[in-house]
Amino acid sequence: MAEGMLQGKVALITGSGRGIGRSMAILMSSRGASVVVNDVGAGLHGETTGETPAQEVVDTIKKAGGNAVANYDSVADWDGAHRMVKQAVDTFGKIDIVVNNAGILRDVMFHKMTPEEFDAVIKVHLFGSIYVSRAAAPEFRKQESGSYIHMTSVSGLFGNIGQVNYGAAKTGIVGLSNTLVLELAKYNVRSNCISPSGNTRMTQSVPVRGTEEEKKAREKKMAATPPESPGILATFLASDLAKDVNGQIIGARGSEIYLYNHSRPTRFLNHKGGWTPELLAESLPKLAPMFSPVVPAKTWMPWTPD
Ligand SMILES: NC(=O)c1ccc[n+]([C@@H]2O[C@H](COP(=O)([O-])OP(=O)(O)OC[C@H]3O[C@@H](n4cnc5c(N)ncnc54)[C@H](O)[C@@H]3O)[C@@H](O)[C@H]2O)c1
Repeated sequence: MAEGMLQGKVALITGSGRGIGRSMAILMSSRGASVVVNDVGAGLHGETTGETPAQEVVDTIKKAGGNAVANYDSVADWDGAHRMVKQAVDTFGKIDIVVNNAGILRDVMFHKMTPEEFDAVIKVHLFGSIYVSRAAAPEFRKQESGSYIHMTSVSGLFGNIGQVNYGAAKTGIVGLSNTLVLELAKYNVRSNCISPSGNTRMTQSVPVRGTEEEKKAREKKMAATPPESPGILATFLASDLAKDVNGQIIGARGSEIYLYNHSRPTRFLNHKGGWTPELLAESLPKLAPMFSPVVPAKTWMPWTPD
């Protein structure tokens, strides 16, 4: 295989048996990385299927001349997370790249959401990202290098109806990434989030509602957002060429790449001697023109990428 930007690197990509993760695994391998293809083979809602998509991706990578090994552990299991990192080190000698990508959905309106529906999604996305990151952290510190890449979502960054569990987990992942930056930058370890769009079974599961025109627009958007584009961004972020990119949230949607900001105080009110609720009632509403509105992502970015 030709020399590539990830030559000599070892990547663990969770949930890479299907969808966006699969594209990442194949692309990173084509750029020289040895890959641990982790996937528990779950159904969209986290149910057991008996499928082994991780092995299929490994076969595809090997057929193309790359190095890959399958792992079937769940990211939602502390010991499983440690086993997948150990497998990378035992098989390929080290670990350089962790992509927290595994995911499931249990969409339901909040007033009907059961503890099980909340826990299952938080467990895979948030706990899973924390467990796998935690398992790799001692290795990254020891070798004084490493790149974490976490999948967040517009569902957390903007909010999305029917996805309290998913959105809360995806915003929590940003908190994980920010803190990894602060703790590990001195060890030359980077951590970035991708907010991806990709035509996968996950997006295909979103019910199509609205007018014929809206349905057509959605079809157009799905066609314009192949699962490969977030993988292109992830491959760059994983490489040493991205050494100056740290602590960022970057969107990848078809032909578009876009940078998010972080939440920062924008206005300060200071009342000598302290506030009372009544004083605040007079002053705080005056900031209304500066309030950040909560709107769905499609209100902020209504266009379809090329
Ligand atoms: N597709 C999009 O437009 C989109 C948008 C925003 C965020 N995301 C995020 O991108 C990531 C990939 O999404 P996708 O659309 O490719 O989904 P997908 O359903 O196609 O793939 C997810 C994979 O994760 C695996 N998985 C589920 N639970 C697991 C567990 N406990 N341990 C290991 N593997 C597990 C599944 O078996 C599946 O193969 C997810 O984190 C998702 O939340 C996707």
